[in-house]
Amino acid sequence: MCGSVHCPTRKMIQLLIILFAVGAAVIGSLQFGYNTGVINAPQKIIEKFINETWFERYQEPITKGSLTVIWSIAVAIFSVGGIFGSFSVGLFVNRLGRRNSMLIANILAFIAATLMGFSKMASSWEMLIIGRFVVGLYSGLSTGFVPMYVGEVSPTALRGALGTLHQLGIVVGILIAQVFGMESVMGNDDLWPLLLGFTFIPAVLQCILLPLCPKSPRFLLINKNEENKAKAVLKKLRGTSDVSADMQEMKEESRQMMREKKVTIAELFRSPLYRQPIIIAIVLQLSQQLSGINAVFYFSTRIFEKAGVEQPVYATIGAGVVNTAFTVVSLFVVERAGRRSLHMLGLLGMAGSALLMTIAMALLDQLKWMSYLSIVAIFAFVAFFEIGPGPIPWFIVAELFSQGPRPSAFAVAGFSNWTANFIVGMGFQYLEELCGAYVFVIFIVLLLFFLVFTYFKVPETKGRTFDEISAGFRQTAAGGEKHSPEELNSLGADSQL
Ligand code: GLC
Repeated sequence: MCGSVHCPTRKMIQLLIILFAVGAAVIGSLQFGYNTGVINAPQKIIEKFINETWFERYQEPITKGSLTVIWSIAVAIFSVGGIFGSFSVGLFVNRLGRRNSMLIANILAFIAATLMGFSKMASSWEMLIIGRFVVGLYSGLSTGFVPMYVGEVSPTALRGALGTLHQLGIVVGILIAQVFGMESVMGNDDLWPLLLGFTFIPAVLQCILLPLCPKSPRFLLINKNEENKAKAVLKKLRGTSDVSADMQEMKEESRQMMREKKVTIAELFRSPLYRQPIIIAIVLQLSQQLSGINAVFYFSTRIFEKAGVEQPVYATIGAGVVNTAFTVVSLFVVERAGRRSLHMLGLLGMAGSALLMTIAMALLDQLKWMSYLSIVAIFAFVAFFEIGPGPIPWFIVAELFSQGPRPSAFAVAGFSNWTANFIVGMGFQYLEELCGAYVFVIFIVLLLFFLVFTYFKVPETKGRTFDEISAGFRQTAAGGEKHSPEELNSLGADSQL
């Protein structure tokens, strides 16, 4: 039997235990991705159902205007649910713990699956809309719970790679939805309720797997003060009986926490200790959504059609495949290349691809082959997104904050992300009417702004413990605001008041 920490078999077992826990958690991310993508392909069929239901009730066909309104609400209410869900993260995680919060949220997934799955049978598009709102709530909560849990169970050296699994869950969910949504699979008159009710299956799976997963050791030690339980969990997660280094680091954080037990959202902005990391967290979330990625994912079929692509549905699935493949690339390079450089590379690449896309769209009438160029440009746009701006903003929030402010920080970051998501979802169609082929120029400008911001403001967090990262911010705050470290410590205490 090999006893050393470096023993390959032992390392493998340890990795499997962590992957099991992270895998169970990211089922929540998969649900988010699935419900992001699922409504795209069967649009025409569900609209037909709304029309028929309307006719049954009022004995007249629905007007085009009312149909558009009902459809847009059904699509957009998902992000409204996401906004409320993400903002409520803090209500759960400190009381129930990270793992149990994820478990309980599944009640929402079951309710949503039932409402959406039976809406056709009940001839009620209202059930569909409410179901979309409820699954939005679930997804909003997941975008906080999952990266927080993953960040807190991961060893420092693997935190970025494992954090990227949240995004991988999302993109796989989108891809499954794109494939299931094809007419020959479930995107047809008979099976679309099943397509929407599918949410039930991952929820059942997560309810079986999560109880077998460890609780977050940081939650046990820092929030609950249960040292022995935290130690036992860590031993399991790290695959060694010597967890003194981890315990030491967590205790150091715990000591800091005595002064800042629970940090409210208002305090995040008031205290000089947190102002800089919270601004970074918000801007990174905005850089993810205002990059224009969901203009592609919500409207890809339309964009491809406009670009003269003959089989837009396949091009859309192609985008889903590229999306997944490059998230895997990011997974393998993020611990080597670091967060900051990958994020900048991604933003720059997206700006370049958007420029190419704009040129292709503008010249389409003169040059037919431009439609191929536009496919390449859109695929490149998606690929660069997944290199950095897709995965990094999600998990970096856990890295930028210590245990006290972390739940509030996730609430603010999630709220910013979902609000921007909603704005792009609602606004893009109008912008497109206004700007035509040049609509992506808006995103180019935004992307360049986020690139400059990242260059000047975002620190590298790769390989640093949570405690080292917050110490870095404490120092910067001390420099900027001319406070001594002692004063800043007491500022941390004051932020309670
Ligand atoms: C990110 C975004 C989500 C987007 C997805 C695309 O997870 O948060 O809105 O749809 O990436 O892969």
